[in-house]
Amino acid sequence: MLVTLKKIINELGENQAVPAFNVYGYEDAKVILDVASSLRAPAVLMTNRDAVMHMGSRNLCNLLKSISEDYDIPICIHLDHAKSMEEIEEAIKSGYTSVMYDGSSLPINENIENTYRIVQFAKKYNVSVEGEIGSVGYSDPSIKIQGEYTDVEEAKIFYNETGVDILAVAVGTLHRMTGQEAVINYELLNNIEKKLDVPLVIHGSTGVKDHDLTKLSHTSVKKVNIGTAIRMKFGESLKSQFETDEFDRIKLFKKPMKDIEGVILEKYKLLGFKKTFY
Ligand code: G3H
Ligand code: ZN
Repeated sequence: MLVTLKKIINELGENQAVPAFNVYGYEDAKVILDVASSLRAPAVLMTNRDAVMHMGSRNLCNLLKSISEDYDIPICIHLDHAKSMEEIEEAIKSGYTSVMYDGSSLPINENIENTYRIVQFAKKYNVSVEGEIGSVGYSDPSIKIQGEYTDVEEAKIFYNETGVDILAVAVGTLHRMTGQEAVINYELLNNIEKKLDVPLVIHGSTGVKDHDLTKLSHTSVKKVNIGTAIRMKFGESLKSQFETDEFDRIKLFKKPMKDIEGVILEKYKLLGFKKTFY
């Protein structure tokens, strides 16, 4: 059933953080929901700017809503890294149950002002809102977004003035890392936790080491965003079949769907979801 991000987070068990995966279509969404369902775990399906530019948020949302109907676990459809009210409005009106407004590259006052407006708008539709303070940069040099650690005092002001449901912070990760090489600044994370009573989000978590994923799930971090790890596995698996004569996309997609399953299951386990049998 479709639920808000807030509901999923409120219902997490002790020492659990929900993995939120970037999805691009039927194939990855279905495998994520199959894995989540086998664990009786919640799922967060996130669409990023690339996916929205490719398919449009209304089409993506309709597809994800329809697939979700086949599962009886809590599912959140989340718009990731939206940069404008227009994008947010279209997504909410299409049926997303959670949105992220990313004003992290704006001056703090503008970020607060825009995020506050979005929180007020989203409330009317019972949609959760994630904001970002500090900035999680990109390891991909073609994306010119500078990383900047979250400042604790700024985070406090941002949270108090916007009332976001969940807050993305920059504590050492970078988007699109292809290896697990991020160095988490736990001192900063602990200071943020001490000063703010709000669930936190870690972006760029493909780069987070396995033991850090588990360690993070024992903190105020309640949502862990993962994109590149699945895209890489899916792409590599697809490419490995290009020497064959096969041209049928449904047949070509079978192996990548199988191959990403293990990555998704592993991330769930590291974040505190144990395999249950029922
Ligand atoms: O918002 C998306 C996530 O932060 C994913 O980051 O692709 O580096 O795992 P990643
Ligand atoms: Zn992100």
